[in-house]
Amino acid sequence: MSRSLHFKSRYGPWALITGAAQGLGTEFARQTASFGLDLVLVDIQAEKLAGVAGEVRNRHSTEVREAIVDLSRPDCLDSLRPFTDDIEVGLLINNAAYPPVGLFFDQSLVDKLRMIEVNVRAPLLLSQEYGAAMLARRRGGMIMVSSASALQGVSYVASYAATKAYNLILAESLWEELRSHGVDVLGFMPGATRTTGFIESEPRLGSSTVANIMEPGPAVAEALRALGRGPSWIAGRRNRWTMWLAQRLLPRKQLIRLVGSNMKQWYGTGESKGVGLEVRT
Ligand SMILES: NC(=O)c1ccc[n+]([C@@H]2O[C@H](COP(=O)([O-])OP(=O)(O)OC[C@H]3O[C@@H](n4cnc5c(N)ncnc54)[C@H](OP(=O)(O)O)[C@@H]3O)[C@@H](O)[C@H]2O)c1
Repeated sequence: MSRSLHFKSRYGPWALITGAAQGLGTEFARQTASFGLDLVLVDIQAEKLAGVAGEVRNRHSTEVREAIVDLSRPDCLDSLRPFTDDIEVGLLINNAAYPPVGLFFDQSLVDKLRMIEVNVRAPLLLSQEYGAAMLARRRGGMIMVSSASALQGVSYVASYAATKAYNLILAESLWEELRSHGVDVLGFMPGATRTTGFIESEPRLGSSTVANIMEPGPAVAEALRALGRGPSWIAGRRNRWTMWLAQRLLPRKQLIRLVGSNMKQWYGTGESKGVGLEVRT
C-alpha cells in the first residue's frame, strides 16, 4: 500500500487542524490534503483561512470546511460541532497557540489566562471530543503541537513554555493509553521555525549563537512521519542532537540558564517594566 493510502486508511477521511491560516497549521493542511484527507480548518483569521482553503481545494481534489472559531472562547467546542457533526474526524491536529513573548511580570494576567484557554483548554476539549470518537472506532490519530520549550524552564516565555509542557505530557500519556486501541498520539516539538508567528515575535537572530531556524515544510513532514512511531518527536536532526546532548551533559540549572541567555539575546529589552504585577483580570 502506498504511503498516502496507508495514511488515509489510518487517519482519514477527515482531518481537523487548528491554527491553519498560517505557519505550521497551513503546512499541516497542505501535507494532509496531499495524502487525500478532507479538511476542517480552524482559525480566527477568516480572510487568510479562505486563502489557504482555496489553495488546498485547487491543488488537491479535497473537500475543505472553513471554521472561523476563536479557541479562547468557553463555547469554542459548541461552535466547532456544526462543522464536524456529520463527518468522521480521523486526525486531530491541535496546532493553534497563543505565544506572546516577554518577561513574566511584563505580561498581563489576561494574557497569561488566554494562553491557558488557547494552548491548554482548547486542545483538552478537542482531544476529549474527537479522541473519544476515535477510541470508539478504534482508529485515528492526534498530534499535539508542543514545543522544544516544553523540555525545561524558558525565561521570556515562562507561561507559554508551561502550556507546551502540558501538551507534551498529555500527548505522551495518551500515546500509552490509546496505542493498543488503534489510536496514535504524538507530542510534536518544533524548535524555532520560520512561520508568520515566529517572524512577528521579532527575535534578534543576528546576535544569536545557537540559532537553527527550520522551515515549516520539513518540520511538518517529520511530524506526519513520526505519528504512530512513538510518543513524541523533536523536529530537525540538529535540534534533536542539541537537546539530547544538553539534557544529558548539563545540570538542569545550567541548561535553564543557557536557554535563558539565548532568549535574552533574542528578546531582551533591558529592565522589566512590571506591568503584569496585577492579580485581578
Ligand atoms: N514557529 C515556531 O518557531 C514554533 C516553535 C515551537 C512551537 N511552535 C508551535 O507550533 C504551533 C504553530 O505555530 P506557528 O508559529 O505556526 O503559529 P502562527 O504563525 O502564529 O499561526 C498560528 C495560527 O493560529 C491562530 N490562532 C491563535 N489563537 C487562536 C484562537 N484563539 N483561535 C483560533 N485560532 C487561533 C493564529 O491567529 P492569530 O495570528 O490571529 O493569533 C494563527 O493564524 C503552535 O502550537 C506553536 O506553539 C512554533
